[in-house]
This record gives sequence, C-alpha cells and structure tokens, in this order.
Amino acid sequence: MNLRGIVLAGGTGSRLRPLTKVTNKHLLPVGQKPMIYYPIEKLTSAGIDEILIVTGVEHMGDVVSLLGSGKDFNCRFTYKVQDEAGGIAQALALAENFAQGQSVAVILGDNIFHANLKSYVDKFMAQGSGARVLLRQVPDPQRFGVAELANGKIISIEEKPRKPKSNYVVIGIYFYDGGVYDIIRTLKPSARGELEITHVNEAYIAKGQLAYDIIEGWWTDAGTFESLTRAGEFVKNEPPL
Ligand code: G1P
Repeated sequence: MNLRGIVLAGGTGSRLRPLTKVTNKHLLPVGQKPMIYYPIEKLTSAGIDEILIVTGVEHMGDVVSLLGSGKDFNCRFTYKVQDEAGGIAQALALAENFAQGQSVAVILGDNIFHANLKSYVDKFMAQGSGARVLLRQVPDPQRFGVAELANGKIISIEEKPRKPKSNYVVIGIYFYDGGVYDIIRTLKPSARGELEITHVNEAYIAKGQLAYDIIEGWWTDAGTFESLTRAGEFVKNEPPL
C-alpha cells in the first residue's frame, strides 16, 4: 500500500510517575500486552506494513528489544530517535525521509481503541491529497484539541481551550499527504514549548484540505493513571478489532 505508518512513542510520561521513572510509557502493560502493541496492530490490520517508531533516546534500546525487526508483527520497523520532547509535530518531522513522499498514517502510541482503521484509511486514500483526522465526543474536551464543526467541516481547532467550542476532540490518529513536512517547517513552538500537531491541522483547514471521520466504538488515551486504568478495562471487556 502507498501509505506508511508512524507510531509516536516519545515524551517523558510525567503524568504516570513513578511507573515511568525507569521505562517508557508505551512499554507499560495494557491488559496482556505492552501499550505500543495496540497502535502497531491497528496499522498492520489496516494493511500498512512499513512502520516508523519514534521514541526518545532514554528507552530506545528497550523499545527495539521488545519490537525487533517487525517480523513477529508481519511488518518492517524503522526506528528514529527524538532527542528531546519537542511535540508531536516535531516527532512527525523526523519521518520525512522514511515517508519517501508517500502519505502517512500517524498514531500516538498511547491511543487505544476498538475500531479497525481500514475504512478510514480507504477514505483518506480516496481523498487523494490533504489530511484527515478522527474525532470523538468526550466529557472533558479541555484536555484535548477541540474541533469546531459547521456544515460537515472542521472550521477551527483549539488546543486545550479553557472554554471548548464543542465536545468533539481530535484524537491521536491522523492521515497526512506528503505536504505535511513543508507545513511543519513553518511552525513556531507554542506556549508549552512544543511544535503542535494542532497547528499542522490548522494549516490544512486554511487550505480547505482537512477532512474528518468520527471514530466508532470505544477510544481512550492512556497517559494518566485514570485513562491507563480505563484502557485496561476496555481491552478486557471488548478486545480491539
Ligand atoms: C495531543 C494533541 C491533542 C490531541 C491529543 C489526543 O495532546 O496535542 O490535540 O487531542 O494528543 O490524544 P497531548 O497528549 O500532547 O496533551
């Protein structure tokens, strides 16, 4: 398939200390597997078999020891080090050579969900260019990038707004065409010192090229004690497709 996969597994996992004092958040258990297995299996089951794993320098060795070449997952892994936690868009910039001009499916390594990605992949590929994000309604939108919708389109996204304009949030599953790296090169760090994926998505809105779907089934991130526990319960009660 002309779509390559990227799993972003960097960050310090500060909200999960001391669990993350000596390991990477994405290696912690969710149900019977390490967290990072879930996004990888979501990509492979959608037919994506070239996958880039981006993680920090501290635990790259453990990540490689766990995942290997990819033969156990029927895919091929490439690894890239993100030197410091500079944001999702900075991590994505590291994928430029790997992508070889092709489109990419990006998953944040702590996003755990039920749906199969195939139908969303198909819609993105049919779209031809631009970007596509997945949304979901949540009770606590101020923790996320919040989408404002009108006439079947996303008209704005605000990162962690104090007064959210809706309860539809952009979850950590994104599809981008080969133009995304030029957009990232124009970004400036946000107030939290990161290159924000929300700013990338805003650039696609400005071009009229940001499509979306609402993900079916359960979804959670797993970056806090509460959400990590929730992820474990979800995978036990209704295993991911
Ligand atoms: C990031 C994004 C945010 C998105 C969220 C999904 O937030 O910045 O827009 O809604 O992932 O998990 P972070 O986890 O960096 O706080």
